[in-house]
Amino acid sequence: VKRITTNTLQKMKLNSEKISMITAYDFSFAKLFDAAGIDVILVGDSASNVMAGHETTLPITLEQMIYHAQSVLRGIHRCLVVVDLPFGTYQSNSDIALASAIRIMKETGAHAIKLEGGEEALESIKRIVNAGIPVMGHLGLTPQSIYKFGTYTVRAKEEEEANKLRRDALLLQEAGCFATVLEKIPAQLAKEVSTSLHIPTIGIGAGNDCDGQVLVMHDMLGINTEFKPRFLRKYLNLGEQITSAVQQYITDVKCGDFPNEHESY
Ligand code: KIV
Ligand code: NA
Repeated sequence: VKRITTNTLQKMKLNSEKISMITAYDFSFAKLFDAAGIDVILVGDSASNVMAGHETTLPITLEQMIYHAQSVLRGIHRCLVVVDLPFGTYQSNSDIALASAIRIMKETGAHAIKLEGGEEALESIKRIVNAGIPVMGHLGLTPQSIYKFGTYTVRAKEEEEANKLRRDALLLQEAGCFATVLEKIPAQLAKEVSTSLHIPTIGIGAGNDCDGQVLVMHDMLGINTEFKPRFLRKYLNLGEQITSAVQQYITDVKCGDFPNEHESY
């Protein structure tokens, strides 16, 4: 199999071929997504929400991200795997940021890291890139800053924040990022940014003109039933299907139907 690299994504943008990205946090789902032909798996710090049950992404640790990433890497053969640097492992200074990125690359076999922020994160991004580690940016609604925003609503609707995002996108590109996520910003702004950059943009709630799209697996598979923002397309009602499957199993056990003679030794 021909592996997807950061160069592949660059070529895809040049050829106007859209990039597909989905999150995964464990071996079994990563194996399914890779076999399905996904281009990029993101080991997102959304693991804090969907795997650990926290309300925000802030509590997850570097050790926990490394555990998820190791599991994902054992399941894939072809796709590019990007791992989020969690909150508190890169914001304080660039030495710590570089050390965190190196731990992820060394201990998991991941192909790239992602971190949130523009100008604020620039020094760290440059040092990580200089160490030979591909970096994906993340602008717009950056969930690690939720207590600064105070809301999960659309970002950069006002001109001042939109202008900062335009500047930040160029800075990320100049600093050597190979791509950037654009989360929950107006489609028109995302289109403009995607056109102005030579590196690919991966949108989530950022309209159809990004160079690729990303969704959290639990959201798009319908496992997380309460979460239904406008940008989300649900490809499955897995939550409902799991509930009825488990209910059927309970019934079968209770009434003595399971196991039958063919299911016994
Ligand atoms: O952690 C995550 O799942 C993400 C994506 C939503 C981009 O950062
Ligand atoms: Na994330």
